[in-house]
Amino acid sequence: MIEDVLAARDEALIAIAAASQLELLGALDAHYLGKKGVFTTYKASLGALTTVDEKRAAGQALNDAGQAVSSALALRRAVIASAERVLRLGAERIDLTEAMARPARGHAHLVTQAWERLEDVFIGLGFQIAEGPEVETDFHNFEALNMPPSHPARSGFDTMFTDYAPDGTVLLRTHTSPVQIRVMQTIAPPIYMVMPGRVFRRDTPDATHMPVFHQIEGLVVDRNITMAHLAGTIDAFTRAFFGGDFTSRLRPNYFPFTEPSAEFDIQRPDGTWIELGGCGMVHPNVLRAVGLDPEEWSGFAFGFGIDRMARERHGIDDIRDMYSNDIRFIEQF
Ligand code: DAH
Repeated sequence: MIEDVLAARDEALIAIAAASQLELLGALDAHYLGKKGVFTTYKASLGALTTVDEKRAAGQALNDAGQAVSSALALRRAVIASAERVLRLGAERIDLTEAMARPARGHAHLVTQAWERLEDVFIGLGFQIAEGPEVETDFHNFEALNMPPSHPARSGFDTMFTDYAPDGTVLLRTHTSPVQIRVMQTIAPPIYMVMPGRVFRRDTPDATHMPVFHQIEGLVVDRNITMAHLAGTIDAFTRAFFGGDFTSRLRPNYFPFTEPSAEFDIQRPDGTWIELGGCGMVHPNVLRAVGLDPEEWSGFAFGFGIDRMARERHGIDDIRDMYSNDIRFIEQF
């Protein structure tokens, strides 16, 4: 009987090792260890053995075999269960690669980026933002800015006039300075304002000029404002916009709407200078044109090109590239 038990045990262990499904293990369990299983049947026939020693030896062999089969079943169950879990997890995995196939997103044009960054920097310095109309009157664009009809500086602006008003008094603004006038006509000082916008001049496009371009104007009107406030503001702006390793300087110049007037340049870390824009102390005639008393109020103003700033920042050789709408160029910025 012992040989039969050992043979049944070996057969069971081989079958268990080969089983790859939990149901099959259940069937093997029942077949060998169940109520009517192989080993149970052997156990029932122990009584038929003649000597006590035989009974004990066979009983021992039967117990050992039963335990070997039972622990082989448990081990195999654990292995199959974990393999099945791995398979199930694999089947339930969600494939997210589809999300990568989204169309490419666009972004703001580089002039818009420079415009918004300029606004951010000036807001950080305590300024407010204002905008004015692109179609202007001669009064706002020239006359109130201390350029009466015969003033020679007018011819420098290459103005485009509309035929809306027959006498040439309505025009496309040649600079953002008329917004200074509108701001001073609308709100009382103290004024700390920047005014970005699109401007127009009768110009043939070349590497550094476009007939339509962008400027940002600055205006401060308060009591006891001096040239030192102007220089300090330009310098704070330069460092905030370009970086702490840039500096600025003012050079004497002439503008009808400021006195004294200056050109302002910024110095790159490598020591070279870039001319950025104009500035000065608001001319008393300009203050008078909007009904402010120059004895009580003083101020400074500045204006410079946004396109030029964007060009400078990104090292673009030809300003026309910024407007050619060639996506291979535009998408780099
Ligand atoms: N409006 C001038 C231009 O377009 C730039 C400018 C110069 C603006 C001096 C100012 C200023 O406010 O004070 O050339």
